[in-house]
Amino acid sequence: MIIIPGPASTELGKKIALELCLEPEPVSHRLFPDGESYIKLNSSVAGETVVLVQTTAPNPDTRLMQLLVMARTARDFGARHIMACVPYLAYMRQDKRFLDGEALSFDIVLGLLEDSGVDDLLVVDLHSEESLRKLQPNHRVKVHTLSAIPVIAKYLKENGFDGAYSLSPDEGRRDIVSAASEVMGGGFAFFEKNRDLRTGETTMFVKDVEVMGRKAVVFDDVISSGGTMAKAVKALKVQGAVKVAAACTHALFMGGAEEKIRDAGADLIVASDSVETPFSKVSVAGVVAELLRSL
Ligand code: R5P
Repeated sequence: MIIIPGPASTELGKKIALELCLEPEPVSHRLFPDGESYIKLNSSVAGETVVLVQTTAPNPDTRLMQLLVMARTARDFGARHIMACVPYLAYMRQDKRFLDGEALSFDIVLGLLEDSGVDDLLVVDLHSEESLRKLQPNHRVKVHTLSAIPVIAKYLKENGFDGAYSLSPDEGRRDIVSAASEVMGGGFAFFEKNRDLRTGETTMFVKDVEVMGRKAVVFDDVISSGGTMAKAVKALKVQGAVKVAAACTHALFMGGAEEKIRDAGADLIVASDSVETPFSKVSVAGVVAELLRSL
């Protein structure tokens, strides 16, 4: 097996290789002045199982293109089996059509990966397993999902949140909060949303759960603008939680996301290294390596 860290995941690729007692084989890459990517593989891949490690944020389109180019090049040079480890998969949230004419971008991305020669795709905390179940039959590429939530919850447990209440912004993240609660103890629940019909403003609150005087953690798969997380954190503080952490797998943190979440009252922000940020307190390398061993 050859581990090839892509330009977006050089550190994570090294960590995964280390977990598997392998030497990483980084690619050469550069950006042309017009923004196009140059990629060159530096090891012989003929007849090998190749693992390409490349997350797709920030700059999703560039990162995705680099991944497609790496996969196709590995295939051109005779790789026997190609696995793409894409801890954060761009476009995974565009997995349903709400309006006529809308692109089903998640499905398109799966098709592009498959056409570039990817046999297996490893994704961490995919947005919707249900959408994957619907779309997987259209594709030869086999998608394997894994979760960073247990390791994030373990970090929180060891850093002041043992026994904290686990909450998710909506019921769609049920798997995430129940997994977190198993590690931290303390139980789990979801937020309810109320819309003011006059202003259109939504408010979030925790129903039937006493958070007064308790520690709590809000878990989400992605923090992008930070709006969802900030609302959830604020609602917990208003309801009397003493200490609140904001946790997610994929920290996109666009614009003023950090400020929004801190202003809402978060005492701690924690994420995985699926996207490298200052909040990446835990690594997904261990869970990825475990899955690679099992495959
Ligand atoms: C939505 O379904 C996701 O799970 C996240 O809650 C959402 O993507 C977060 O976005 P933002 O940080 O922009 O509120």
